Formats: sequence, C-alpha cells, structure tokens
Amino acid sequence: MDFKLTEEHLMIQQAARDFAQNELLPGVIERDEKQIFPTEQIKKMGELGFLGMMVDPKYGGSGLDTISYVLAMEEISKIDASASVVMSVNNSLVCWGLQTFGTEEQKQKYLTKLATGEVIGAFCLSEPEAGSDATSQKTTAIDKGDHYLLNGTKNWITNGGTADVYLVIAQTDIEKRHKGINALIVEKGMPGFEIGPKEQKLGIRGSDTHSLMFTDVKVPKENRIGEEGFGFKFAMKTLAGGRIGIASQALGIASGAYELALKYSKERKAFGTEICNHQAIAFKLADMAVSIEAARHLCLKAAWDKDQHNNYDLSGAMAKLYASQVAMDTTIEAVQIHGGNGYVKEYHVERLMRDAKITQIYEGTSEIQKIVISRSIIAQ
Ligand code: CAA
Repeated sequence: MDFKLTEEHLMIQQAARDFAQNELLPGVIERDEKQIFPTEQIKKMGELGFLGMMVDPKYGGSGLDTISYVLAMEEISKIDASASVVMSVNNSLVCWGLQTFGTEEQKQKYLTKLATGEVIGAFCLSEPEAGSDATSQKTTAIDKGDHYLLNGTKNWITNGGTADVYLVIAQTDIEKRHKGINALIVEKGMPGFEIGPKEQKLGIRGSDTHSLMFTDVKVPKENRIGEEGFGFKFAMKTLAGGRIGIASQALGIASGAYELALKYSKERKAFGTEICNHQAIAFKLADMAVSIEAARHLCLKAAWDKDQHNNYDLSGAMAKLYASQVAMDTTIEAVQIHGGNGYVKEYHVERLMRDAKITQIYEGTSEIQKIVISRSIIAQ
C-alpha cells in the first residue's frame, strides 16, 4: 500500500489550487450574492482541461485518472463550490456517461465539445415526483419509429440554463418499469424544449439550476444512449461515479472552511492569547482535521476503486455519505470559531456552510447513500 501521490498528481493538485486562488476567489462573494454564473471562469477551466479530466485525449479530454479528478475537485471546491458542481456534472455525469456508453458518432458529435468545455452538459433525471425514487419517471419518450417523442418536466437541473447538451432519462414502456427507461441526448433549441426560470437557492448560488419542460420534442433514435431500455442502468452507473465527484466537492468545502478557521484562530486574540490556544477552539480544530483526513481517504479509496475497475458503488456511496456530513459539521464549526465574523460574507465561511448542505441532497440524499451502502454490505 502506498499513500504517496505521484508527481503528476501533485502537479494537478497545485494547478487546481492556483487556478482557484487566482481565478475563482476574486468575485466569488459577488457571484454568490447575485447568483451570477461563472461564465469566464468555466471557459478557462475548459481550456485547462478541468472539464473533461477523465476523457480520452482522442476526444479532447485530459486522459487523467479519477484520483486526479478528486484532487482537483477538492481544490476548486475549497474556493468556489458553484464552479465545482459545474465541473462535477460535466465530468462525471455527462462526459463519463457518453465516453463509456455512447456510440462513436455520439462521442464525435458531443463528447469532443463537452470535454474541452466548448459546450457544457446537464444530466436530467429528477422530476417533481421522482427525486430519490428514480424509477418513477413520469417523463415519457414514446417510440415513433425513427425518433422518440419526449414529453414531461425535469426539476433541479444543474447547468439547466447554460448547458447545450442534456442527457434526459425518460420512460418509454411503463409496463417494464425501470427496464422500459431510456437515456436520450437532447440539444438546446430542439423544438418543444423550454427552460424554466432559474431557481433561487440557499447555496451553490453561482451555479445555474432550472426546471426543464419538454412538449412533443422529437429526439432522433441515434441520440439514445445504449440499448433500448438501458436508461435506468445508465443513470445508476453514472451516478455511482458522480457520487465520487460530489464527495470530493464536500471534502473541498470542509477543508476550505477548516483552513480558514485555522488561520483565523491563529490571528484572533481573546482572553490574552490567540484563540487557537484555548482548548475550546483547539479541540474543534482537532476534530475537524481528523474527520477531513478520514473523508479524504474515503474519496481517494473510491477513486482508486474506479481506476482499478473495481466495483465502486459501495466506496463511492460511503465517501459521499461521510464527506457530506463532514462538510456540514466542519462549516458550522468554522462559523462558530469565527464568531460574529463568521456570520458575515467577507469571511467566506457562511457561504461554505450554505454550500455544504446541498452535498447531503443531490446525486442521492444521505438516506439514499445508506440504502446503497446497506444493500451492498448485506449482499456481500
Ligand atoms: N449500477 C448498475 N445497475 C444498478 C445500479 C448500479 N449502481 N444500481 C441499481 N442498478 C440496477 C439494479 O441492478 C436493477 O436492475 P435489475 O432489475 O436488472 O437487477 C435496477 O437498476 C433497479 O435497481 P433497484 O431495484 O435497486 O432500484 P430502486 O428503485 O430500489 O432504486 C436507488 C435504487 C438506489 C434508491 C435509486 O433509485 C437511486 O439511486 N435514487 C437516487 C437518485 C439520485 O441520485 N438522484 C439524483 C439526481 S442527479 C443530480 O442530483 C445531479 C445534479 O444536478 C448535481
């Protein structure tokens, strides 16, 4: 067993850290406050290869491993979790899904642009009545010979307004339940495809979340991913990897808040000394450091499983469940350590606390992770 990162891993980590400090930190408070999408920053992330990290270079990607992706996600999320959710969805849910299950034509047409960030992708599974219960899809994709007729509504779609390529999960044959579901590539601008208003959110406010409406949208058959009826498995397999990305996002939010709290506690004085010298604060810092290190190990283990082609359903769900709890706990304590300053925007920790909450909700709530984990361990 070797816990040492390679030279290449360290370089990627440093590049992501530098990018986050130089390009994401300026303006992050304003983007959060006014719900401004980081358009320029995302463009640069594409140029630097952060949007198609695990995609084969022959399709425009960086050809890196999942460990590199976790390291970069942590660094970007420390500073701006709104930018990192765009990165996570594009990498894990859209590019990975297309690279693994798409046809050569689909890869040439869509993946090459998504991997470079020329266009952004969205993954559309959730519905008003199908969030955790993902088999209960109400959106229909009726087989019309050479195309599917798509009707329905999707909710809480990350990159909903800014994306150009949407992977939409829809029911073709209700009798077959999850075996009658398909995954379709839908392009912005297809007649009958409308984008709803932008959601007003508690956290990750710089990211762009919308509902989507489909009314008799004709989606060509060649835009189906995988065999007829593969859509639910496609969604589950894709989400299993997505959970490693969101776990790393949660890890970054936690480690970002911890670093700020540690720095603050060494500067702020109370009762005649820096507050880090009081056990009330020092013990909080110790708890934060231990839980963040444990979350990091879980994230890297899940990434390693994926890179080794081991099953990563269990390790990915464990990483997401634990890291998102650590993000929540750590950010609350980071605000507490900052006292009154923690409650105002310029110290960043209140934003990180708001951002942390979504990591316990999207790509499967914490309760869903417990279903995945318990099913896996019982089946062993
Ligand atoms: N890999 C491959 N196949 C899988 C799988 C996996 N990881 N998980 C399940 N399946 C297969 C099963 O084998 C089964 O197929 P067979 O009948 O052929 O064996 C089929 O899928 C149905 O599985 P289940 O019976 O386990 O299905 P279920 O209805 O009990 O649901 C669940 C399982 C884990 C609860 C699932 O519904 C789930 O993950 N729900 C949460 C959905 C979710 O994460 N939504 C988030 C939306 S995306 C998002 O948030 C993106 C964003 O914007 C950031």
